[in-house]
Amino acid sequence: MIEKILVLGSNGQIGTELVTALRKSYGESNVVACDIRRPDYDIKNSGPFEFVNVLEKDILNNIFQKYKPTQVYLLAALLSATGEQNPKLAWDLNMNGLLNILDLAITYKTAKVYWPSSIAVFGPNSPKDATPQYCVMDPNTVYGISKLAGERWCEYYNQKFGLDVRSIRYPGLISWKAAPGGGTTDYAIHIFHDALTKGSYASFLNAETELPMMYMDDAIRGTIQLMDAESSKISIRSSYNFGGVSFTPEVLAAEIRKHIPDFTLTYKDNDPRQAIANSWPRSIDDSFAQKDWGWKPEFDLSKMTVDMLKNLQSNH
Ligand code: SER
Repeated sequence: MIEKILVLGSNGQIGTELVTALRKSYGESNVVACDIRRPDYDIKNSGPFEFVNVLEKDILNNIFQKYKPTQVYLLAALLSATGEQNPKLAWDLNMNGLLNILDLAITYKTAKVYWPSSIAVFGPNSPKDATPQYCVMDPNTVYGISKLAGERWCEYYNQKFGLDVRSIRYPGLISWKAAPGGGTTDYAIHIFHDALTKGSYASFLNAETELPMMYMDDAIRGTIQLMDAESSKISIRSSYNFGGVSFTPEVLAAEIRKHIPDFTLTYKDNDPRQAIANSWPRSIDDSFAQKDWGWKPEFDLSKMTVDMLKNLQSNH
């Protein structure tokens, strides 16, 4: 069967790299990039592109009718920090965007749907270290609330309608190709840019803030691995815990200093993102992903740092 794949939110931090990876595997013309913004990179020239707002169901319906997708990736979302600036919009986009896609996937018999969740589904009363798949979840950001509700909807559509929906709880994603999307973990990207251009960085999270992170190459590989897995192997239809590396700003700075010895790190006070970070896990237990579909990250802190600096250096 020839796959036809829609990627909604194709211009974002994940979409930019996912579209390229999918086009390599499935052929350029079989992966349709969709976003509300014009792509400012070569995605438009390397395959089909459609302007789509995931909240406009009629237009979405036309896109489903036109392409009859076998797989849909819904990446359009407001993240944790931007979501707090506009909670109602974040809820509307993150929730109704998902429900629109789930409904259209049923109508058009889409074989598989991918939707990302996040470590933001956990909250202040979740265990902080090796946070398990199943535990207390009391997210206190609108982003986390919408992701947790979205996970429940995904499982609901799978159980009630047999929809093959798959999901991963991403940690902070570190990448160099596209800008990060307004999250609490974005400091871990900005730090690399500033280290190269200024030799210093002022972190909006404090020295002790340890968070789960992952290099984008691992995230893309894991996402496609989950989507390629036999349906019978997917025991979790809400969303999988997904582990990479964990570090604090201080530890990351020490790693960067191995390459840029004079790099200095300072800290800003009173940033609202600190409270969000404090409510999230420090590390993740992803044993279900390991057992069900063989997940294993390839990038540790040192390998990620080398790759980030090398790629950003040639970009800057
Ligand atoms: N990177 C995301 C954020 O910080 C977490 O899913 O919002």
